[in-house]
Amino acid sequence: MDEYSGPLHFRKVRRGDSEGIAEVCHRTGYYGEDLRGSGRFDDRRLFALLFALYYPLYEPENCFVAVDGSGGIKGYCLGALDSRAQAIRYRRRMTGRILLRALSVSWWRHPESFGELLNFGRVSSMQGGLDDLYARFPAHLHINLLPDCRRRGAGSALIALFESEARLSGAGGIHLVTSERNLEAVPFYQKLGYERERTLSPGLWRDAPEALSIVFVKGL
Ligand SMILES: CC(C)(COP(=O)(O)OP(=O)(O)OC[C@H]1O[C@@H](n2cnc3c(N)ncnc32)[C@H](O)[C@@H]1OP(=O)(O)O)[C@@H](O)C(=O)NCCC(=O)NCCS
Repeated sequence: MDEYSGPLHFRKVRRGDSEGIAEVCHRTGYYGEDLRGSGRFDDRRLFALLFALYYPLYEPENCFVAVDGSGGIKGYCLGALDSRAQAIRYRRRMTGRILLRALSVSWWRHPESFGELLNFGRVSSMQGGLDDLYARFPAHLHINLLPDCRRRGAGSALIALFESEARLSGAGGIHLVTSERNLEAVPFYQKLGYERERTLSPGLWRDAPEALSIVFVKGL
């Protein structure tokens, strides 16, 4: 695929963006690296259901995309302004879809993805929740850009849009989770004023349990 060096435009998510968002999610899903053909998690649909699709489906007002000259989605910032409410809605609305995909397709067509799904469940219960952060930092976000659109200010522009939406809603702060292994994301968040609040162990992926997750926070 050709690299894109043209201008990027930023807008709110629209109906019909889910496919492009799923693609970006999967192509940046392993500490910012491409999961396609990696043998780590080849089921793109399951991966996007887990990590991205809730937001454009159920909270599109807090979601922004970067698009190229022909409207193709090159990146996004997705999030929720009230993480406590979002966690409840996510369980109610996504669990059935995730299980349906996992049990009808993933387990036999993508057994590595099925195995990783079970691992994600185990890791998140070992890491514990972030409920104690919700009062001061109620919003959370996920930001991902394809490699040819990085280091051009797009991440800063997308996150600024999300932050201004969060400020308008009266949210007092934002939290997010990344990994110490993500060498692009960590300096990016620090540059934008996010502070390291805690680490979570073990790491998310089966092949890197030593790579601690980092929780960053920023007051608004
Ligand atoms: C992390 C990410 C969103 C940053 O977006 P971006 O558009 O590349 O960032 P920007 O161009 O707005 O950079 C703003 C500042 O952040 C810092 N920064 C961004 N990328 C950096 C990198 N790779 N190394 C060091 N500093 C970096 C720099 O200070 C930069 O300012 P500068 O370019 O003037 O020096 C992008 O690299 C990305 O999508 N990575 C893959 C997906 C991912 O890891 N997402 C986070 C998951 S938790």
